[in-house]
Amino acid sequence: MKGYFKKISEAKYYLKNNIKIMPTIGLILGSGLGILADEIEKPIVLDYEHIPNFPISTVEGHAGQLVVGGFMGKQVMALKGRLHYYEGYTMNQVTFPVRVMANLGIGQIIVTSAAGGINKSFVPGDLMIIRDHINFGFNNPLIGANYNSLGVRFPDMSRVYSRGLIILAKKVAKKYNIDVKEGVYVFLTGPAYETPAEIKMLGILGADAVGMSTVPEIMAAVHSGAEILGISCITNMAAGISDKPLNHDEVIEVAKSVEEKFSAYIKGIIENI
Ligand code: HPA
Repeated sequence: MKGYFKKISEAKYYLKNNIKIMPTIGLILGSGLGILADEIEKPIVLDYEHIPNFPISTVEGHAGQLVVGGFMGKQVMALKGRLHYYEGYTMNQVTFPVRVMANLGIGQIIVTSAAGGINKSFVPGDLMIIRDHINFGFNNPLIGANYNSLGVRFPDMSRVYSRGLIILAKKVAKKYNIDVKEGVYVFLTGPAYETPAEIKMLGILGADAVGMSTVPEIMAAVHSGAEILGISCITNMAAGISDKPLNHDEVIEVAKSVEEKFSAYIKGIIENI
């Protein structure tokens, strides 16, 4: 079996050969938020299935394309369609695209996602800047042989989310009059939504929002030395916070209804980076 590092290198060289201008910002776009990638100028669109060693996304609402080009005066690489641990991928597969981004020299990564609101002051449609996270996935993408060329064996997780980017994101929110929240994101593997008892526990533990993505990629990105900004769209109140039963269609629907606001916000952030 090929080593992980070799696989990353093969994907990296494939991308280098297919991209003219190297991007500096990476974008990981969550459920129903792929619209941003459609606004990339002079896009080079690469299907995941054509990139060496790239895992392929299977979830409805996730396209599986990498889009590279100009965006708000910057060069970006966007992952349109992310890979989830609950799909059966290994943690190494879930974090593979981020590894490739970081190895290409992308130094800033913006991660968006859908999440359930635990904090009772949130309402569906809110955007939340991730201040910190709790890895409640009972796995860790950094387990296994450590490649020193990727990062250190014991990475510091005390400042995962760039303070500079959080300040910038707040300034942009103010400028565009977007009421943005800030909080702690807790990662659970899914695919089942949580029970009300689990949500109660997660709230006591300090979580403001819950989701099934983001944390693995972010941990790999930190390990790779990238600067990170995470923003979640609160698509629903988590189980037991409201009486409504949860379903994926509703998550997608709410994500779609805030797509315009979310896109405008991310654009403003990238413009000001
Ligand atoms: N729980 C977990 N993941 C989610 C949720 C939720 O309520 N909403 C969107 N992603």
